[in-house]
Parts: sequence; structure tokens; C-alpha cells
Amino acid sequence: MTTARESEILTRVGSGTPMGNMLRHYWLPAAKSSELAADGEPMRLKLLGEELIAFRDSTGRIGVMDHRCPHRCASLFFGRNEEGGIRCVYHGWKFDVDGKCLDMANVPPHQDFKHKVHAKAYKAAERNGLVWVYMGERQDAPPPLPLIESTLEAEADLEIDFIQRDCNWLQALEGDIDTSHLGFLHLGAAQTQTYANGNIDQNIVANRSPEFIVEDTPFGTTYGAHRPSEDGGTYWRFAHFMFPCWTLPPISVFEANVLARAWVPLDDHHTMFILVANKSARKRRPSQSFADGKEPVGTATKDKYLPRTTDWLGRWKLVAHSANDYLIDREVQRTQSYTGIDGIHLQDQAITESMGPITDHTWEHLAPSDIPIARTRRRILAAAVALAEKGTVPPGVDTPQDYRLQRGGSFVADAKLDWREAYAQRIAQDVVPRATKVAAE
Ligand code: FES
Ligand SMILES: [Fe+2]
Repeated sequence: MTTARESEILTRVGSGTPMGNMLRHYWLPAAKSSELAADGEPMRLKLLGEELIAFRDSTGRIGVMDHRCPHRCASLFFGRNEEGGIRCVYHGWKFDVDGKCLDMANVPPHQDFKHKVHAKAYKAAERNGLVWVYMGERQDAPPPLPLIESTLEAEADLEIDFIQRDCNWLQALEGDIDTSHLGFLHLGAAQTQTYANGNIDQNIVANRSPEFIVEDTPFGTTYGAHRPSEDGGTYWRFAHFMFPCWTLPPISVFEANVLARAWVPLDDHHTMFILVANKSARKRRPSQSFADGKEPVGTATKDKYLPRTTDWLGRWKLVAHSANDYLIDREVQRTQSYTGIDGIHLQDQAITESMGPITDHTWEHLAPSDIPIARTRRRILAAAVALAEKGTVPPGVDTPQDYRLQRGGSFVADAKLDWREAYAQRIAQDVVPRATKVAAE
């Protein structure tokens, strides 16, 4: 059970809150590289409740800073991004990506004090198509980026998707460490006999109440949901929570599941979902999913976006949202799919947003199926409290290699193997060779 006080700590991300302080120790993925063009328009960017602008300067460097000009707080969103910096249009002061004031155009040269003025800038980094922001105190020597498997793959072979979710980051993330909902929300209308032979997804439908092992790890938590497989082995679904807001869920079979998902708090009530997935590996998924070659109704649709706006929360929003009930089709719900909501991501979106902007955690009745969630909350809380009370640097910040040889995914293993052996076998077989190959490239 999560108390009101614990819930408050877990969900509030603003500057000066325990969780806000903890999140600011990590690099956070914030934008696609393609969203920022050299000398292009500045982009409003909300992160951890702060209103920022992001821009790419003439030489390709990325600037991320508080949107308020340090002169008299005019928004730099209206600024001119030109010749190696952003110039405030109110009185012409100009700043480079590090926040250094380059020009104080409305002040006579003998009264100029530009060397004393700094815009509040944060460190930005770019890797394989993703822009990361570090909002912590170590601006001069930030920690390294985490070595999460899919984020190290070549950009040309990556799918990077962003979708805004209108609720608190924790309840959004927890959908990824809650495997038992798969047999209901997404596959509640599916039957085993309709699966193609050998598709191990049929195990989800054959037994909709898995058991779990859960363990704390250096990078966060790991769980394995297990049940006897149809062919006498054990069907495993492994997933990880990685500090501060990453998941490696078992979207697919282990060999195809080179992916990670981030749930980045924009503020207390809005979250950016970010998927980073290797495209070639994904093609190794078994044919989805039924014997007739069709996917289960409601699981295949590609999400459609609303036109982008320049608002703080105007990027990567979906056409189907709470105000139109996610375009639920009650006839389809009666006859074909469990929800009548089209697409796995949208089903998750509808349900986690339906819990309210911040779930009232004191209202819940957690069950054995929620053990990974309960354990992960405890792990996050302990890290936030250790930071607040003792100044302990949270897990993974200075140990990026802890993230490296891990993957989520499903597979069938010999029933005699315990979870550690079963997982270690697949890491050795699938992840280690791939890491060696990426390191050599
Ligand atoms: S407010 Fe920006 S230059 Fe004056
Ligand atoms: Fe889901």
C-alpha cells in the first residue's frame, strides 16, 4: 500500500521536491534530433515542470534554457536564432547555447556587463537521433549518458516515437511493469486456438494469471512473470524498470525486443512517452498473431497525431484523446475486441489517463499481480529519501554500464531452469553478441 505522503513524494517532479531533485540527477531524453534545425525556430519544451526553450545554433549545437531572458524575463521563444546564438527580441541581448551573454545590444559599450549575465542553460547531448537534457547541479561536469541497449543502436536502424500522455509519469510507467493486463486490456477477446502454431503469445491467452519473481537490481528492478507453457516448458515475460523513468517491457519475443521506453515527466500531470526500438530486430517477431494471419482486433493500428502546436504541451499529441473517449467503438467492444479502443498504445493511454491526472494511490487495492509495481515504488522511494536525507547519489547516475547487458522480452525456457539461469542464458545468447558488435562499429 502506498500512503498519501509516499504518493506525494513519488509523483511531484518540480524543482525542490524530493522526486524532482532525484530526477535532476539523470540525463532525460527530451526531443528527437529532427525536431531542431540549425538556425531554425526555437521550440517550447516543458520538462520537470520547467518552461524551457530548445534551439539548434548555426554550428549544430543544441541549446536548452529557461525561456525567460535574464534581462527582464521576455520569452526567448520569440527570439531570433541566428549566427551562433539566440537573440531576445525585446532589447537585443544575445546568448549562446551555454547561456553566455554574447551581446548586450541596448547598453553603451562602457556600461556593458555581459560577462556577468547568464541565461539559465542546461547541458544538452545528442546520440543516435535523440536529444538528452541534464538539469542537475553538475552542469560543468555532468554524468555520462546511460548505456541502455537500444539507445546505442545506429540511428538509421532506429524507430524513435514520441507520444504525450496526459497524466502523471508514475502511473504511465507502471503500465509497462504490469504484465497481467495484457491478457485483458489488449488480448481479452483473443482465444488460444486462433493463434498460429508456435506463436508463444498464445500462452498469455491460455493462462491469464501469471506468477512473478521480482528483484532489486543495480539499475532499478527486474521481474519475470511466469506460467507453464503449452509445450511443457516455462513461459517467461521479463521486464525491467531502469532509473529514473525507463522500462524495458516484453513487447515481443526476446530476440526481437531491442527496445526501451522512457516516461519523462513534463510536469506533474503530463508525461512524454518515448520509444527507442531497433527496427531490424523487430522484424524477427513471429507472425502476428492468429492462424489466419490477422492480428487480434484492435492491436495493430498506428497512432494518429494531432497537428503540432508551439504550446508547451503541443507536441506529439494523439487525435484520439480523453475529450472524444479515445474514439471508443462500443459495437466493436461487444463483438470483436475487449475495449473497442483501437491500438495497443491507445488502450494503455486511455486507461492510465482514466485514473486521473495523478492516481489517488490511497484508493488502490494492490494484488499479487502488482508485486513488480509495489517493489518498484519502494525502490524509487528509497532512492529519493536516501538522496534527501543523506545526499546519496541515486542508482545508475555514475554507473552507466549497469544498464548495458539487459533486455526485456518473452521466451519459453526449460521448466527446470530457475529465473536467473533462464534469463542469463538469453542475455548470453542474444544481448552479449549484439553489444560486442555495436562496440566494434
Ligand atoms: S528582456 Fe530580453 S533583452 Fe530585454
Ligand atoms: Fe498495455
